[in-house]
Amino acid sequence: MKDILTAPFLTEMIRTTANMYRLGWDERNGGNISLLLDNAELSEYLDLNHVLREIPTGFQAPSLAGRCFLVTGTGKYFKNVQYDPEKNLGIIRLNEDGTVAQLLWGYSDGGKFTSELPAHLMSHVARLAVNPNNRVVMHCHPGNLLAMTYVHDLDERAFTRTLWQMCTECIVVFPDGVGVLPWMLCGTNEIGMATAEKMQDSRLVVWAQHGIYGAGADLDETFGLIETAEKGAEIYMKIAHLPWKQTITDEQFHQLEAHFGVKAREGFLD
Ligand code: 13P
Ligand code: ZN
Repeated sequence: MKDILTAPFLTEMIRTTANMYRLGWDERNGGNISLLLDNAELSEYLDLNHVLREIPTGFQAPSLAGRCFLVTGTGKYFKNVQYDPEKNLGIIRLNEDGTVAQLLWGYSDGGKFTSELPAHLMSHVARLAVNPNNRVVMHCHPGNLLAMTYVHDLDERAFTRTLWQMCTECIVVFPDGVGVLPWMLCGTNEIGMATAEKMQDSRLVVWAQHGIYGAGADLDETFGLIETAEKGAEIYMKIAHLPWKQTITDEQFHQLEAHFGVKAREGFLD
């Protein structure tokens, strides 16, 4: 067996959580990440027949039967992941209907996966249906996106268009826009289902007065998605109260679509 602490999926997760903390997106235990693993690669590091304990998930996800995920622990601080990955992270495998998570590694202090597991796994199901290469669901609390949900209309088209207008690259990075949910109780199956439904159309879903979810093929791509949306929100919060002299026009958005070979979400451009 190879040493799991040298596994690329683990080292990348550690770097990502440290970066997210450094950017202020994950105060205290805020935020959570799930990464879908390749069972063959994982078996180079772990005996997949050795289950440490079983933890109920509280929901069903039959399409994820037998799939393994690296998941941040509930109540754990992103700033601490790098110092004790085995306590702050865990590797789970879903049973045949997804109602039980078999712990294969981690949560070494008796802990368990994030309280947002429903939103994560339901979002994985939704994104895998759109893109079989999706591997990551990431949640965090970036300050400017959060601030924007207090002062901006929560209509998805309006919210997306404002972010696109804040930097030229936004529409190129997330042409599918952002889904927006009103305030809902977090950590529930209900917010999980609502998030997954939005994930059918966009890889970013804002939770008003709470934070954002992103999904992507790897940790870097997903991090970059949230980073770009947060940059857009940062510009917005700098200028929202000032008179605007100009912005990016729909005609210019169409030029960006043609030049970068992207297609804006249906109906979001004039
Ligand atoms: P967990 O500590 O359970 O991951 O919750 C953090 C969070 O951001 C809840 O939305
Ligand atoms: Zn949160």
